[in-house]
Amino acid sequence: MNEMKQLLLDRIENKTAVVAVIGLGYVGLPLAVEKAKAGYRTIGFDVQKEKVDMVNKGKNYIGDVVDRDLEEIVKAGMLSATSDFSIVSGADFIAICVPTPLDDYKQPDISYVENSTVEISKYLQPGTIVVLESTTYPGTTEELLLPILEEGSGLKCGVDFYLAFSPERVDPGNLLYKTKNTPKVVGGVGKDATEIAAAMYRSVLEGEIFEASSPRVAEMEKILENTYRNINIGLANEMAIICNKMGIDIWEVIEAAKTKPYGFQAFYPGPGLGGHCIPLDPYYLSWKAREYDYHTQLIETSGIINDAMPGYVIERCSHILNRFKKPLNGSKILILGVAYKQDIDDYRESPALKVIENFNSFGAEVEFFDPFIREYRYKGEVFIGLSALSAEIIHEKDLVVVTTAHTNVDYEWIQKNSKYIFDTKNAMKNVIVRDNIEKL
Ligand SMILES: NC(=O)c1ccc[n+]([C@@H]2O[C@H](COP(=O)([O-])OP(=O)(O)OC[C@H]3O[C@@H](n4cnc5c(N)ncnc54)[C@H](O)[C@@H]3O)[C@@H](O)[C@H]2O)c1
Repeated sequence: MNEMKQLLLDRIENKTAVVAVIGLGYVGLPLAVEKAKAGYRTIGFDVQKEKVDMVNKGKNYIGDVVDRDLEEIVKAGMLSATSDFSIVSGADFIAICVPTPLDDYKQPDISYVENSTVEISKYLQPGTIVVLESTTYPGTTEELLLPILEEGSGLKCGVDFYLAFSPERVDPGNLLYKTKNTPKVVGGVGKDATEIAAAMYRSVLEGEIFEASSPRVAEMEKILENTYRNINIGLANEMAIICNKMGIDIWEVIEAAKTKPYGFQAFYPGPGLGGHCIPLDPYYLSWKAREYDYHTQLIETSGIINDAMPGYVIERCSHILNRFKKPLNGSKILILGVAYKQDIDDYRESPALKVIENFNSFGAEVEFFDPFIREYRYKGEVFIGLSALSAEIIHEKDLVVVTTAHTNVDYEWIQKNSKYIFDTKNAMKNVIVRDNIEKL
């Protein structure tokens, strides 16, 4: 076995390898904490000074990280953070966890990956492995990262350093599966890179590590996972629209379908897609597919259905208000939940923001309450929510619209005090008195 590879494997095994995590967000911070807890000296990098300062003070800002874990590993000197990329030169294992959003035209904005790779390349040392964890189009690792790293460092991939892709699968708010116990896929540029990256993840994580034959396979499998969800949610949304027209309860239909023990997985309708992954990642593939003269059809169709959902919510609300002889203009609306999914504080791409925007455009008077989010920023504006709910506040509204199914909300109490409710998430399924509740 070549000496450099053996040295790196030894450092992983005896926990003397130093880990660098680039990007300390929803993905990077939990990963950095797991690496440090497993016994690796870990350095987190972020361009946001506030995050760096918080980590160095042992203060947590990510829901899936346990406050005490962070505090203890920082105190023990196992985790520190910095914005100074020159410190990357001391790392053996570098994980890139920076954002991969879309631009205004739904095209990949790969600039965060590119910028952080350029920085790494300046300080990359022989004998290091770089692993991209950000979700991206197939080909990114070999077509974008590899040349940047080789050019910037003067080193040769597979000879002087290793490169791999390993998609992150963290599911914020999931009580069962965390970074530690979620299986991981690894695909290296060459077998050695796969073996080294897999060894590192095995030493830290409890889940199975699947060794893919290339970074492209690993990149594509992540896109498949998220496209599968995007399209199935699109199907659930379309079924919801049809069911409403036919006077059939979609939620009951799904419960019935779920009794089939094979061949069916339940997906649920809602006010639209949200989060940093499911609404965005499929477009990384559609963009890349065009290079091969292929136009992804299911992704586009699903996008059409899902993107229309906030507008559909307004349409249904206007029908409800119409029954009370109320126009949208001037109606008092309470939006319950702006997070893109239950029990988390993340509102990125949340459809609730579009529902609010739509209501505002029709002249409705909108207030929102979210037990996890006091204010949000949308298209350069800051929107401040209610700090608490009261029976009076709820009762003065013409309509309450449930847009997130948070579990720490007293829905019986909401029902009792509301004039009328439109529940887009079936969050109130356990409420017995239902005279004033309509579901999506
Ligand atoms: N959030 C999720 O649930 C989730 C799940 C699976 C995969 N992913 C993927 O993981 C990646 C990261 O997502 P996230 O949710 O953690 O994003 P995030 O925005 O929460 O965190 C990214 C961090 O990277 C930092 N950053 C940006 N540019 C940087 C640079 N040049 N150098 C150093 N730091 C930089 C940002 O300041 C931010 O703190 C994305 O590709 C996303 O698609 C996210």
